Amino acid sequence: MSQAKENAASAALEFVKDGMTIGLGSGSTAEIFIEMLGEKVAGGLKLQGVPTSQATAACARENGVPLIEADRVSRIHLTVDGADEVDPAFNLIKGGGACLLREKIIAHASDKMVVIVGGNKMVENLGAFPLPVEVDPFGMAITAEQIYAALKRSGCENAQTTLRQNKASDGPLITDGGHYILDCKCGLIPSPADTAHLLSQIPGVMEHGLFIDIASAIVVGEDDHAKVMELTRE
Ligand code: A5P
Repeated sequence: MSQAKENAASAALEFVKDGMTIGLGSGSTAEIFIEMLGEKVAGGLKLQGVPTSQATAACARENGVPLIEADRVSRIHLTVDGADEVDPAFNLIKGGGACLLREKIIAHASDKMVVIVGGNKMVENLGAFPLPVEVDPFGMAITAEQIYAALKRSGCENAQTTLRQNKASDGPLITDGGHYILDCKCGLIPSPADTAHLLSQIPGVMEHGLFIDIASAIVVGEDDHAKVMELTRE
């Protein structure tokens, strides 16, 4: 277990209060947080988790974290999730684990999103990490063309797009929602909000991995401590 991830996950427990409904993110850092949450539940803390992927649901069950289906919640107080990149305005790239659609549905519906990352995920500008875009398999070549055009139009110099393969490398990766992932090597995304807006206009795009104005706290783990940064969102 990476110490930086562990320190970030542990510091994020401060945001958890008794009785909360909590969006459970996906990925290795989120899983460390879920393990820690399981220990709190074993100690008597009452909460229910809304999983953002099948893998997360399995992790929560293994660690004794009670789950509730997304369709049965009336309010999500908090979501805690990892990220692939975080910029100084708390904009994120997510989707390295192919769960971005469900992650965004839950984070967007939450009162607060807390992001837990190692310091290596903090960047001045988004885009070195290839931007994951979740697309419907139908008409994917059309959608890929439109994504390319949107990236170029919003100022991305490079826009090389690759269809993500499954773990066995014998076909495209299929997301929990039955879609494909196109990874877009941008190098630099100069205007993340413009890129996000243009991608959202494309019918074949189910969701993209730019999380703009959603996160309100970033917990950055280092080897010997974690730093909590917060901003107020109306
Ligand atoms: C899952 O789709 C992603 O958004 C993850 O949150 C992201 O890839 C971070 O994962 P790690 O915590 O494993 O780095």
